[in-house]
Amino acid sequence: MNIKKLIDDLTIDEKIGQLLQLAPFFFVEDLDVEIFGHVQALHLNKEKIFQAGSVLGNNNATEMIKVQKRYLKESRHKIPLIFMADIVHGFKTIFPVPLAMSTSFNPRLVYEAARIQAKEARVSGIQVTFSPMADISHDPRWGRVVEGFGEDPYLTSEFTRASIKGYQGVDLSLHDSIAACVKHFAAYGASESGRDYNTADINHISLYNIYLPTYKAAVDAGVKLLMTAFNTVDHIPATVNEFLLRDILRKQWHYKGVVISDYDSLHQVIKHGVAKNDEEAAYLGLKAGLDIEMQSTAYVNYLESIINKHPDMMKLLDQAVYRVLKLKKELGLFKDPYAGADPVKEQAIIRQKNHLDMAEQVAMESMVLLKNNNHLLPLDKQLTYALIGPYSETKRTNGPWAGHGDNALNHTLNETLSKEGVQIIFNKATETPVFSQAEIKQIKMADILLIALGENEYESGEAHAKAHIKLPRNQEKFMTFAKQLKKKTITLLYHGRPFDLTNIMDTDALLDVYYLGSRAHEAIAKTMVGKHNPSGKLTMTYPKTAGQIPIYYNHLNTGRPKEPDIMNEYVSFYLDEDNEPLFPFGFGLSYATFEYSNLVIDKIKFNQNEAVCVSIDIANNSNYDGYETVQLYIRDLVGLYARPVKELKAFKKVWIAAHHKQTISFELTYKDLTYYDIKGNRRLEPGEFQIIVGPNSRDTQTMIIELIKENFHDIKQ
Ligand code: BGC
Repeated sequence: MNIKKLIDDLTIDEKIGQLLQLAPFFFVEDLDVEIFGHVQALHLNKEKIFQAGSVLGNNNATEMIKVQKRYLKESRHKIPLIFMADIVHGFKTIFPVPLAMSTSFNPRLVYEAARIQAKEARVSGIQVTFSPMADISHDPRWGRVVEGFGEDPYLTSEFTRASIKGYQGVDLSLHDSIAACVKHFAAYGASESGRDYNTADINHISLYNIYLPTYKAAVDAGVKLLMTAFNTVDHIPATVNEFLLRDILRKQWHYKGVVISDYDSLHQVIKHGVAKNDEEAAYLGLKAGLDIEMQSTAYVNYLESIINKHPDMMKLLDQAVYRVLKLKKELGLFKDPYAGADPVKEQAIIRQKNHLDMAEQVAMESMVLLKNNNHLLPLDKQLTYALIGPYSETKRTNGPWAGHGDNALNHTLNETLSKEGVQIIFNKATETPVFSQAEIKQIKMADILLIALGENEYESGEAHAKAHIKLPRNQEKFMTFAKQLKKKTITLLYHGRPFDLTNIMDTDALLDVYYLGSRAHEAIAKTMVGKHNPSGKLTMTYPKTAGQIPIYYNHLNTGRPKEPDIMNEYVSFYLDEDNEPLFPFGFGLSYATFEYSNLVIDKIKFNQNEAVCVSIDIANNSNYDGYETVQLYIRDLVGLYARPVKELKAFKKVWIAAHHKQTISFELTYKDLTYYDIKGNRRLEPGEFQIIVGPNSRDTQTMIIELIKENFHDIKQ
């Protein structure tokens, strides 16, 4: 298939059509009836619809085949549609939400999950997923933190890369792969005050060092599509932002793939106030390098007249169409327009046992033990437990962006704990701790209360920002209830964002379980009984109160930092709250206890051509084998620009047997010490750097090394 020749054979309308993306119903509904509905509102007609290039959303192979068949029958050029959908953390087999998966500090798991998602989606008629979300956020009020991999650019880049490799496999034309679409370029996670779709106001040092590296990692990993963001950057909406889409993406990063708008975001530049109407929006979009317009119709209705006025823009249209057709070719659509969609195989592939087993394995590593006084966990099978709280009977563990999955197929915690031989003598889900006298009598008979708290899946995700991040609906009352009964408590937290947990910190044990997917409760039960040792570490800082937001570990120092335990009024602090978070980035307990000692660096001074070896001893002084994630941070002590107090540069997740000790080592090179200046150029500055190692970003050991200016050579940008 010669794409250039194919483009030459298309009419201008047909070229523009390739840039239009519509929902499946457009292609199968009776258009004469529809003419007064969506179709009319978008100024579409049958001819334009059957020139569209792609479809947004699809449920199964049968639906895809029906739409593609009808399309190929009606269209003149017979170029197949591509089907795109949000397969974010599972198609039918649902994996933990990305925020939970990131706590595993194990990108391999995200890779495996993405492989399975790709297989299930492809056979069901989807060839592109709008995933991964590589947006960094410092704000738990923003509901979409659940879709990302946390607050750190290095860690998020690792997960972003792994998920793209997983989705895309080795060859997109094979029916076990789908194209990935990284989103939302750029800095969507910086939405001011955590309110979704809000403005992002960021300086260029933060843009280059915090927000852009994750999308760059996606481009370097060969991602096939990139979605623009709803927000502005430098007061220009990302969807029409030439600096982002041309200067950074195409010129600096040499990105060759497709750029797609977010839902209606091209049309929305009118509301942003940078275009008067759809015609101006379309002009700005094409000029900036936007290829596909998702779900609005500025391109389809106005590009032709724009090109008539500006004939030189035909070149831009051809380039955009080329990228879309190239993707279709890579996906094998020209050879087989159904691209592997197969209703019979679909039934055999979706929710296969090995897929569900993998979902369970990922879930096991995606929960975080935040507190465990008196070793209440693992559970003691001799004791009895009462399971209460609003989520104590829930099967709704799939979380947001899992629309193809079915919560009804999941098991409850009561079922899975009982299967593990735990004696649950009372189980009732109530929003508040109001029970009858008879129920209280039963609850009192239990040795320990298991309390399932949190938020439901409709309270996080897109358009689900919150100003209050305490547990909703006064759930802390369950703590008061337990106290009145003088019972010890183990609390489970189902949620999609960091909460202010100060009011429930009286609990004796706290296990953070997010939304862990299809096999959530199997994994939770196995962990609670000690068949599995929890190892997750937080990838977002948990504040003490919403008033501390934005709060993140890799902040700058300020000119008047607060020194611990020194009282000085004129420093950076709150009158009514600590600066420190409730739980720092990287924090998470295990049933094992790990002791860090003997931080060693092989050379204190080094030059640009040398590597530095950092090692530390870790002793597992417990009876439990377990994983520990060792984290290495640096601090650039003096630079041209103020540098963060800590930056994660490496981590290792290691298995350490009970009563064993291991030496863990890292190799650092000058590349780990570079950063971007205000123009986006990489800088390397000689001088002192702190090397900071520990089990989390707070409890660390530090040594200083010095990069000396000897044989300095230029660095790759
Ligand atoms: C979201 C995207 C998503 C798209 C398509 C938008 O509202 O912001 O993340 O991929 O819808 O469903």
